[in-house]
Amino acid sequence: MSAKAKTAYRCTECGADHPKWAGRCDTCGAWNSLVEETVARTAPATGSSRRAGGARTLGEGGSVVATPRLRSVSGSEAARWTTDLAEFDFVLGGGVVPGSMILLGGEPGIGKSTLLLQVAARFQLAGRPALYASGEESALQIKLRADRLTDDAGDVSLLSETNLETIIATASATAPSVLIVDSIQTVHTGDLEGAPGNVGQVRECAARLMRFAKESGTAVFVVGHVTKGGSIAGPRTLEHIVDTVLYFEGESSLDHRVLRATKNRFGSVDEIGVFRMGQDGLAPVSNPSELFLGDRTNHASGSAVTALLEGTRPVLIEVQGLAAKAGFGTPQRVATGYDARRLALLLAVLDKRAGLSFAQLDVFLNVVGGVQLHEPAGDLAVAVALASSVYDRALPHDAVFVGEVGLGGEIRPVSQVERRLAEAASLGMHTVYLAERAVPKKLPAGIRVCGTRTVSQLFEQVFQ
Ligand code: TYD
Ligand code: MG
Repeated sequence: MSAKAKTAYRCTECGADHPKWAGRCDTCGAWNSLVEETVARTAPATGSSRRAGGARTLGEGGSVVATPRLRSVSGSEAARWTTDLAEFDFVLGGGVVPGSMILLGGEPGIGKSTLLLQVAARFQLAGRPALYASGEESALQIKLRADRLTDDAGDVSLLSETNLETIIATASATAPSVLIVDSIQTVHTGDLEGAPGNVGQVRECAARLMRFAKESGTAVFVVGHVTKGGSIAGPRTLEHIVDTVLYFEGESSLDHRVLRATKNRFGSVDEIGVFRMGQDGLAPVSNPSELFLGDRTNHASGSAVTALLEGTRPVLIEVQGLAAKAGFGTPQRVATGYDARRLALLLAVLDKRAGLSFAQLDVFLNVVGGVQLHEPAGDLAVAVALASSVYDRALPHDAVFVGEVGLGGEIRPVSQVERRLAEAASLGMHTVYLAERAVPKKLPAGIRVCGTRTVSQLFEQVFQ
């Protein structure tokens, strides 16, 4: 093994260097911010290169290199490698870019290893050798998983290893098209002291894998675990190193999973792909709206549908509200998949602007399917679902509500209305309630649009 590289401890807050680890940075006072890093092997120039007066010219020791004009740079974007796992390719922006590094983050047990094993199997079958390096599971465990899949992973090469140098050396020697490292928290380099999984190790390993990807043209996938409360030494510290960051999310109790790109140097961000986890692995769901609306019961009050944009793709989502008579004490406000403060704000708006009082009512809000409703366009559906529950009047089954609700109770237009309308039409919806100003001139066949200005006007329209 090579001699140990020189390391230093750098504060992630202020960047100060420390020769030894400490719990607190004595330059800026931040706690727990020191990270071990390898430092350049060559010591900074001293003594001989110093001028007599002690001054150095700027740039001394560097060499002059050519600076070609942008126009004269040759080459074009490399063809992408597709997996035919449609949703996966879509989220990446049309397939995997050779030589890129992709981080797949997600909670334990969500299906990251399953997804990447399927990806490996598909590459292998397409004649692109795949190497699956696992520090998490034994070869037998991986084989047992592979046996469940419809995709045949039999020819994928396995490497049960946690030492980064060994993984890179093996990959260099066998030259796979795709290298999968499961997970970044289990690999370590001998050049750093810390245990696998600490921030320094994770960052250094990721940086070296990135260099390997760029130099060899291998597509490198790295799994990173995220814990419920955010992340410790996890993917978040890696996001700026890698080319693409994918998050795999979903409720473990539900069988569908959402793959989301939060960073992509080779495609657009916030695209989602939806999968269903079955007995034989993950299957792409080509029409997510159908899945999210699938279990909707007819004619129950408190249910409203909205059309959200996930990346460039419109999705119809059901919002359920339940307002029930409160017991003693402060009434409860419980929101699942929706920001609790936003709910409090909407309740205040409904009270003040539409005369709908929730003071004596417990309020429960649920965005169906484990979806997180962040887009303001969903406000209107939340408001109308809650009103529907208070009045105990069901909303029309084929109605969609799209709009942001302002503090004055006004309904604001949202972006990309045409796309949302088209999705509503394709799922057999008939009426879409929108901000009056947002009503487009051209409507998809079968869609009727009702423009409304305020929430109270909307309630008159739907509950009269
Ligand atoms: P896994 O890929 O091991 O998750 P991660 O790598 O993110 O920790 O998947 C774990 C879960 O997926 C496990 O609870 C079993 C389930 N599963 C299926 O339901 N069907 C399948 O075909 C496979 C392989 C796993
Ligand atoms: Mg796993």
